[in-house]
Amino acid sequence: MVRNIIKLGDETLRKISKPMQKFDLRLWLLLRDMADTMYKADGVGLAAPQIGILRRVVVIDVQDEHGLIELVNPEIIAMEGEQAGSEGCLSVPGRRGYVVRPNKVTVRAQDRNGKFFEITGEELLARALCHEIDHLDGIMYVDKMDHEIFDDEENA
Ligand code: CO
Repeated sequence: MVRNIIKLGDETLRKISKPMQKFDLRLWLLLRDMADTMYKADGVGLAAPQIGILRRVVVIDVQDEHGLIELVNPEIIAMEGEQAGSEGCLSVPGRRGYVVRPNKVTVRAQDRNGKFFEITGEELLARALCHEIDHLDGIMYVDKMDHEIFDDEENA
């Protein structure tokens, strides 16, 4: 089911999300709704607080070999390098910002059944991992951006 995406300015986006403790149907329905909502909005990632659920759950799909990535209670355990580029957010429609992120990150998370795993991403996937995990701590890309990107600049 496609859910409503909360927009910048709503204080829900600024709250700290709680860890997920039960890996049951409730979580699976949340994951399904999050994926439905992300794909409908043409996004590459969505965090649970963006649909008003203050739980540490993230979905990402950067259209690479990983397909749909589901992360429960994710934590960044390693990062290296640096990338600077354009970043957007489904909670900040119509805007983009120039944000510096690590070029490569490794995340430890649990899957939908509670099993721990690690995933390493570079470039866009690394950016998406950092961006979505920030949402779980109430952090938005606009807090970290160097400057707003306008259309003429992006096409330049
Ligand atoms: Co976002």
